[in-house]
Amino acid sequence: MDSQDVKSAIRAGWDAMSPSYQADSRIALDDVHYAPFAPGERYYRLMGDVSGKRVLELACGGAQNSIALAKWGAEVVALDISPNQLSHAVSLRQVTDVEFDLLSGDMESPTMFRPSSFDLVMSSFGWEFIPDLRKCLDRCAELLRPNGRLVMSTVHPLSAFDWNVATRSLSVTHYFNPPVEVWEDPVPEGHSPGLTFFRTIEELVSSVINAGLCIERLIEPYPVGLPEDERSPYAGRYWADHWERLTKVPFAVVILARKPD
Ligand SMILES: C[S@@+](CC[C@H](N)C(=O)[O-])C[C@H]1O[C@@H](n2cnc3c(N)ncnc32)[C@H](O)[C@@H]1O
Repeated sequence: MDSQDVKSAIRAGWDAMSPSYQADSRIALDDVHYAPFAPGERYYRLMGDVSGKRVLELACGGAQNSIALAKWGAEVVALDISPNQLSHAVSLRQVTDVEFDLLSGDMESPTMFRPSSFDLVMSSFGWEFIPDLRKCLDRCAELLRPNGRLVMSTVHPLSAFDWNVATRSLSVTHYFNPPVEVWEDPVPEGHSPGLTFFRTIEELVSSVINAGLCIERLIEPYPVGLPEDERSPYAGRYWADHWERLTKVPFAVVILARKPD
């Protein structure tokens, strides 16, 4: 499969998955989410005051993060590759009556923006769907203004491995070579199933540093309260079955990096 085939498969996969993902997730519209059942931006404060700042959200899905950021006064552009995810975003934007731009595009090469045009580039759970993370991060670094921030929330490499329900433990077969997950459920209309690319912590950190960005924080978010607890901006049935696992093994890794002055 070449890179374009991978993208088409992932786009088709997200188009097929969008209705159940949006229905079964409870995603807040007044906070930025970083991990299932974990606290969000109101707690971690990675972004600083975004009021009046130019923000790019990549792989926005239903654009819940963009809605929160726009409510906080940011001038937001949100981008996604899946038409169905984008139409959910359009509906939510209308219902919430906030203003921001929504674009269809590939986050691996967001070439439609001018260099140095954003104060913050962020994404929750988009980075693991692109084959070439380094290319994407190089472009993100170009898009940032000096002192601008990158906030990356992505799947933790340990989430690539199976949870053994009987032993209540993780079966880590080969940490240094995390598998590429091929989604099991075939999507309709003959498209190939999508892929998720897991990356070791070393690879994630090296990719950010190689793009010329300075890492200021790295977080492995821990769930708060119980699954029904409303403190997390990212919860719902979609995640509830994995509660025990989520309390023992990090699902996400969050990196805050800054472009030097
Ligand atoms: C797990 S969802 C996350 C959506 C949203 N950020 C959230 O947290 O709910 C992954 C999103 O990545 C998008 N995506 C996958 N590959 C992409 C690409 N190459 N460019 C832009 N968006 C992409 C999918 O369409 C999907 O909306």
